[in-house]
Amino acid sequence: MAEVVLRGVVKEYEGGGGQAVKGIDLEIADHEFVVLVGPSGCGKSTTLRMIAGLEEISEGEISIGGRVVNDVAPRDRDIAMVFQNYALYPHMSVRENMAFSLSLRKRPKAEIAARVEEAARMLDITPLLDRKPRALSGGQRQRVAMGRAVVRDPQVFLFDEPLSNLDAKLRVQMRTEIKRVHQLVPTTTVYVTHDQVEAMTLADRVVVMNEGRIEQVGPPQELYHHPRTRFVAGFIGSPGMNFLPARLEGADEALRLRLADGTALPVPEVLRARHAPQAGREVVLGLRPEHFGDAREAGRPGVAAFTATPAVTEPMGAETLVHFALAGVAACARLAPDTSAQPGTPLPMTADLNHMHLLDPASGLVL
Ligand SMILES: Nc1ncnc2c1ncn2[C@@H]1O[C@H](COP(=O)(O)OP(=O)(O)O)[C@@H](O)[C@H]1O
Ligand SMILES: [Mg+2]
Repeated sequence: MAEVVLRGVVKEYEGGGGQAVKGIDLEIADHEFVVLVGPSGCGKSTTLRMIAGLEEISEGEISIGGRVVNDVAPRDRDIAMVFQNYALYPHMSVRENMAFSLSLRKRPKAEIAARVEEAARMLDITPLLDRKPRALSGGQRQRVAMGRAVVRDPQVFLFDEPLSNLDAKLRVQMRTEIKRVHQLVPTTTVYVTHDQVEAMTLADRVVVMNEGRIEQVGPPQELYHHPRTRFVAGFIGSPGMNFLPARLEGADEALRLRLADGTALPVPEVLRARHAPQAGREVVLGLRPEHFGDAREAGRPGVAAFTATPAVTEPMGAETLVHFALAGVAACARLAPDTSAQPGTPLPMTADLNHMHLLDPASGLVL
């Protein structure tokens, strides 16, 4: 097993407008499960393929297990990759598919058989070993593709959107499966997805990418609670964080946010020292849907009360999403399922500002 280190890694495709990856520095520890997440086209697959050796690096250096691999061929990097289209050999049985790479490497037959059996047991596909891929469901094929990677016992696993072809339920199941396998065989893993839920649930650390750069790296909870940029604040979490233009006014106990419609929201005491220097500035107030509440929360320190009229309510079972306008801006609240919210009826609401983020409207940086 091994750590993976990227230093100043740049990718410029020939004849393709500008840099797809604009200088990435990242250290992935031995055993660590790191997820690269970001919108389509932000450079995730390119980064992964450079680690795999499937794309040349335009600038910078990549090392695996302390060895610079810039000029090492993919098959000599001791990595195993799992893609979205798992590309099993249709004429081979599951057993043969899983054994294939070890056979190519001329491993002893007994060793190959043992490794295949072990991986099959781990992935719960032992009864499928003699089937052909066409006799498998999508989820089973995905397991075989993982099995094929696991038998190789590589230094690093690389995954590129491995679950994108599966239906929603299976995706959740396989997500748990991948996490379980990593707990059993804690191989260093780099996993690419555009799905922030997948990123949050799988990763030891999440790397949020945007337009070829890293926006922020951290454990899931840290990115959720302490985003450093508007991009990260908006990308992590679903429904996304609400953003409201505001002006920071007053001082000391009277420090408050003034929304466009005149609504005044007092800055909680615990945040006053932090935000006092920004008094007088235009800011953006960021608040997650779960930090809106209904009137039952009123009266706690740092919780501001206001009235809003729900436009749409979405009962989800464990919670109800309420869409409303606050100071002319569309916002979403995650309320308890027994909320009395009704479309068109004014609702006393609260905003727990102890959890607010203030952002600079120009730079998008969290203040
Ligand atoms: N082979 C290629 N040639 C030219 N441009 C490419 C190639 N592959 C990807 N790109 C471009 O590089 C950028 C990043 O692509 P990619 O790494 O596939 O993004 P992601 O995996 O995050 O969706 C995109 O703008 C894409 O169009
Ligand atoms: Mg991709």
